[in-house]
Amino acid sequence: MIVSGSIDKVRKIIKKAKQQGKTIGFVPTMGSLHCGHMSLVKRAKKECGFVIVSIFVNPAQFGPGEDFKCYPRNLDKDENLLRQEGIDLIFYPKDDVMYPRDYSVYVEEGQLSSKLCGQFRSGHFKGVCTVVTKLFNIIVPDSAYFGQKDYQQAVILKRLVSDLNFSLKVRILPIIRDKDKLALSSRNRYLSEIERQSALSLYSSLLLAKSLIKKGQRDSNEIIAAMKKLILSKKTAKIEYIKIVDIQNLNNLDKIKGKLLIALAVYVGRTRLIDNIIVSA
Ligand code: PAJ
Repeated sequence: MIVSGSIDKVRKIIKKAKQQGKTIGFVPTMGSLHCGHMSLVKRAKKECGFVIVSIFVNPAQFGPGEDFKCYPRNLDKDENLLRQEGIDLIFYPKDDVMYPRDYSVYVEEGQLSSKLCGQFRSGHFKGVCTVVTKLFNIIVPDSAYFGQKDYQQAVILKRLVSDLNFSLKVRILPIIRDKDKLALSSRNRYLSEIERQSALSLYSSLLLAKSLIKKGQRDSNEIIAAMKKLILSKKTAKIEYIKIVDIQNLNNLDKIKGKLLIALAVYVGRTRLIDNIIVSA
């Protein structure tokens, strides 16, 4: 396994793999890898002859006051995990390799980015689209792997690929959860024991919504109210949003119909957590 922060070197290695007829699988990450990330890595390994994982905590997608500085970083541990999976290459660039001093070009998706998390994290998806575009241009993968955990990010990136004519497949894989059903996230390590218990209400509320829909409830506001009540019964939880939306355009749905996404963002203590579920009515 090669670990490199050099764009030129990475391009040369990938060119060689392509000349050998290998398909290129790519998993972009910000490191601090857990089983959620590793599920993407394993799938890429299964489907592609040459697998690259990028580890880059992208400053452009963090807002002022967000956790860029203290975001967990652990290259040694990540390297070991990826080596065990037989990954071919880790791209681990420094900030000034991706964003040199005079950097001035950004990529913005104009419809989906302002919904859900976009209402509260201004500029976040612009940062994501910019870095992922750069990574796609450096690596030129055949397939790129993303998690449903960040569903909005995944659909925005699908749109980016189709609107900017990238020639690659976007694969979206299921949310991996811990034993207690909390969705795995690098940010879970910020939670105290008590906060973690409160955080379990996120998934319970999604399951409650699903069961209400299965029982025939069709009024989104009623469902959201029941979810709110459950989450707010935990003292340390503060809801940022709970939305029921169309899975493609992310527009709010007042009436439950067809296949839909229930998505939420909740602060548990000072930690912002997101989760979601896709339900067919
Ligand atoms: P990061 O948060 O490190 O996540 C990397 C990938 O892992 C994303 O596609 C994310 O959806 C997926 N992932 C995270 N937790 C998961 C879980 N519990 N189950 C399944 N997949 C999970 O998302 C980013 O980094 C960045 O925005 C990035 C795309 C790398 C651009 O900087």
